Amino acid sequence: MTNERAPAGARHVAIIMDGNGRWAKKRHLPRAVGHQRGVEAVRALVRAARQMGLEALTLYAFSTENWRRPEEEVSALFGLLKRYIREDLAEFVENNVRLHIIGNYKALAPDVVALLDDALERTAHNDGTTLAVALNYGSQDEIARAAARAAAKGPITPEAIEAELDTAGLPPLDLLIRTSGELRLSNFLLWQVAYAELWFTDVLWPDFTPDHLREALDQFGQRERRYGGR
Ligand code: IPE
Ligand code: IPE
Ligand code: MG
Repeated sequence: MTNERAPAGARHVAIIMDGNGRWAKKRHLPRAVGHQRGVEAVRALVRAARQMGLEALTLYAFSTENWRRPEEEVSALFGLLKRYIREDLAEFVENNVRLHIIGNYKALAPDVVALLDDALERTAHNDGTTLAVALNYGSQDEIARAAARAAAKGPITPEAIEAELDTAGLPPLDLLIRTSGELRLSNFLLWQVAYAELWFTDVLWPDFTPDHLREALDQFGQRERRYGGR
């Protein structure tokens, strides 16, 4: 196994995995097939992120707005999620991948919650790459929940809110990628993106490969991050 390092010190990459439906439509296939192929892209990418030594990879899998989709599509998506976790959990355990969930996952179906809780527990002591999956995630919902918890403890400051976000404990976000050519954030990591670099590609998610991640990280390495200074 190669031991390549993520270039230029990127520690935390997040991805809005978009375009499964359009990928399937182009091929006259059902949307569910696009989602299936999307899972294959996830599997390859998680392996690559681990081999590159990324500290954290956060993947947008299901938004608070995705409930607006037909029930059949929603249940297909959760079916695929359950299968992915069942099939790859042993690999996470073996390869020191820690699973983390952002979003209000406790509100999901009881069998999904049980599966996730088990996977979280079994990977909790791993200290390699953290795979953070955004499920029933909306950034506005996350910030509102964090602010409420911060307010219950004391004065509401940016630091106090940040400490209560679902991403607390992960490294600061370095790079946000969105596939499929859409130039919007769709309620993803609005707080965390404050000084992240952004990278957009027309590639549809099922076609996204570790080489695309390498390309994004290479370009990230050439950017100058100024954080408002000079
Ligand atoms: C992304 O692909 C997967 C999820 C949002 C769950 P889409 O299903 O949004 O694909 P498009 O945008 O319709 O092509
Ligand atoms: C964002 O994609 C959500 C996920 C990738 C899970 P959408 O396809 O839901 O976003 P919009 O509707 O195009 O903004
Ligand atoms: Mg979409």
